[in-house]
Amino acid sequence: MNKILVATEKPFAQIAVDGIKKAAEDGGMEVVLLEKYTEKAQLLAAVADADALIIRSDKVDNEVFDAAKKLKIVVRAGAGYDNVDLAAATAHGVVVMNTPGQNSNAVAELVFGMLVYAVRNFYNGKAGTELKGKKLGILAYGNVGRRVAHIAKGFDMDVYAYDAYCPASAIEADGVKAVSGQDELFSTCDIVSLHIPATAETRQSINYALVNKMPKGGILINTARKEVINEAELLKLMAERTDLKYITDIMPDADADFRALEGRYFSTPKKMGAQTAEANVNAGVAAARQIVAFFNEGCTRFQVNK
Ligand code: 3PG
Repeated sequence: MNKILVATEKPFAQIAVDGIKKAAEDGGMEVVLLEKYTEKAQLLAAVADADALIIRSDKVDNEVFDAAKKLKIVVRAGAGYDNVDLAAATAHGVVVMNTPGQNSNAVAELVFGMLVYAVRNFYNGKAGTELKGKKLGILAYGNVGRRVAHIAKGFDMDVYAYDAYCPASAIEADGVKAVSGQDELFSTCDIVSLHIPATAETRQSINYALVNKMPKGGILINTARKEVINEAELLKLMAERTDLKYITDIMPDADADFRALEGRYFSTPKKMGAQTAEANVNAGVAAARQIVAFFNEGCTRFQVNK
C-alpha cells in the first residue's frame, strides 16, 4: 500500500486532515502525519519510506530527496512552489505538483482584512479612510489576483491590474483596467497588492524606484512572498517618505527595522493567507486526490517540473 506523508510545519485544520485521509483511503493509500516539526532531521526520518509527500511551505531540497528513497511525487498543497528544489526533484525522478486556485479565496479575503485594518490606522481610534473609490493595483492577475479584483468591486474600488503573462484583453474582460506595466501600476494606484510568485525574475523586484512611484499616502500590501521585496530599499524609501505604509502577511527578515516605522507597518506573525478551514480542505484534499490519480491512473496534471 502506498504511503503518503503529510509533512506540515504549519498544520492543516483537522477537517482537512480528515478529508486527506478519506481521499487517500478511498484510493487505496495510507496517510502518515508529521505536523509542527521543528527540525529538518524529523522530516528526513519521516520521508524515508514515503511514496508520496504532501507539503505546504515546507522546504524540500536535495537532502530531502536523497533521504526519500521511495518517493515518486510531492504535492505542494497550495500555489507557490518556490520551496521545492525542482531540479533536484527531476534528478531524483520525482514528480512535483501544486494545487493552483485551491486557496485563492482565503488569500484574497485576507488582503481586504488587512487593508481595512491599515486604512483605519490599525484601529487606534483616530479617523482613517475608506477603500471605496480608491485605486487598487493588482500585480499579477492569476487566481488570487482575479479574486482580489472581484472582491474589490464589492468595495466600489477602482481596480487596475498588470500581469506580464496575461493579455490585457483578459483583464479588461473582467471589468478591470489593464495598465502597460509595473511602473504605470505603481504610479497610478493608491494601493498596490502583490500576487507575483518568487522567481529569478521577480526576486527583489519591488524596490525603491518602483514603490517611490506611488502617490502620496500609498499602501503596499504583500500576501505573496517576502523574497520579491528589496527590504533594504523599501526601508530606505519609507524612512524618506513618511506617507507610505507596508502591510504584509510574510514577515520580512528586517521585521524589527520595519516595526520602528510606527503606524506604517504591519506583519502577521505567521503567514495566514491560506490558513482557513476551507482553503486547507480545498488544497489538502486536492493534493491527496492528485496523488491517488497519479498512482492509479498515471495522471500528471498540475506537474510543475516538466
Ligand atoms: C501558497 O503559495 O499557496 C500560499 O502562500 C500558502 O502557503 P501556506 O500553505 O504555507 O500557508
